[in-house]
Amino acid sequence: MPQYDAIILGGGAAGLMCAAIAGQRGRRVLLLDHAPEVGKKILISGGGRCNFTNLGIAPDRYLSANPHFAKSALRRYTQHDFIELVARHGIAWHEKTLGQLFCDGSARQIVEMLLGECAIGQVTIETGRAAGEIGHADGHFQVGADSAPALVLATGGPSIPKMGATGFAYDVARRFGLKVVEPRPALVPLTLAGDQALFRELSGVSAPVVARAGKAAFAEAALFTHRGLSGPAILQVSSYWRPGAPIGIDFLPQAEPGWLVQAKRDRPRTTLRRALALPDRLAEALADTLALSGELANIPDRALAEAERRLADWCFHPNGTEGFAKAEVTIGGISTADLSSQTMEARKVPGLYAIGEAVDVTGWLGGYNFQWAWSSGWAAGQAL
Ligand code: FDA
Repeated sequence: MPQYDAIILGGGAAGLMCAAIAGQRGRRVLLLDHAPEVGKKILISGGGRCNFTNLGIAPDRYLSANPHFAKSALRRYTQHDFIELVARHGIAWHEKTLGQLFCDGSARQIVEMLLGECAIGQVTIETGRAAGEIGHADGHFQVGADSAPALVLATGGPSIPKMGATGFAYDVARRFGLKVVEPRPALVPLTLAGDQALFRELSGVSAPVVARAGKAAFAEAALFTHRGLSGPAILQVSSYWRPGAPIGIDFLPQAEPGWLVQAKRDRPRTTLRRALALPDRLAEALADTLALSGELANIPDRALAEAERRLADWCFHPNGTEGFAKAEVTIGGISTADLSSQTMEARKVPGLYAIGEAVDVTGWLGGYNFQWAWSSGWAAGQAL
């Protein structure tokens, strides 16, 4: 006789939400986490204030081999549902930018809220307990001495291993015959080498840009680092970037076409470096690379037009990323082809569920990944 109706592996955002919902529906739930406390990524997220959702949640802001998969869960448990939960717990929040919602106080309030919801659902939580070997016989899953007819994989992805992140969910999924879309680091800084390494000397300089990888484009800040490129615009495009491909940066997205030739007419004595409305060190590096020194009056219009074109689509060839050690999330994961989009249950293995970052659904930067954790956790919690 199983002691539990469901065992949830992983007490992160998705696991806590799923446990609370299932518990409140009367299910006997055991939630395990190998870390000494639950919700560690929530605690460090958003600079300690947790960017818990985004007003602009929409399925097309998620990457997955099946772009339709996330629709159902995101529609059934929306950002407004989560905002309502946060409000019910008296947690004050504010919109920072681009629809991103943060706690006014501390991310710990979100963890406390989820623990409070789990307590209402009488969820048994065991921290400091690794999931280990999973047995499966007669329709029951065995985890150590505990068993249940349902098992939820909520152990996230391998981003930031030093925080205890593992690829455990993938191993279990594969063992049960589920496919795993190759995991890669996402929302991650990109590295530069070779002749582009000169930009690393700009470490600490940032500028509002439009960054592009393929068809994806993001208007946010880019930051030069001692290893290459970071900042929100770069983290966003990193999810779309493939090794070997270039990324394009428009350093002057607000500039009107023909602005540089016009600048020559208006201020012929100025230099390119001074004409660029950019941080000084960046303007200098760009002007040097373009090899356009001296007064604009002495530079032919054709060369200025070409410089303008390059500044609007500066081509970087990253030689890699800073890897899982620095990636905010993992792209790829348990294939959605093997899961129900309504319940997150594996089609071929009744009772096995996967939610959150472990699944091949990855959101943009800005609260999108937590919303996926809440929505997918809620969907499974309703089905357990
Ligand atoms: P999550 O990683 O949260 O939880 C998995 C849990 O499983 C962990 O508690 C882990 O200890 C446990 N576990 C792993 N292996 C195990 C095993 N073998 N046995 C038992 N337990 C195991 N997103 C966002 O929307 N807004 C934000 O502000 C941020 N900020 C942010 C900052 C930083 C630094 C990082 C690294 C990430 C973010 N994110 C974010 C992303 C967000 O943290 C991430 O998408 C969610 O935490 C994913 O939730 P999950 O519950 O799926 O995994």
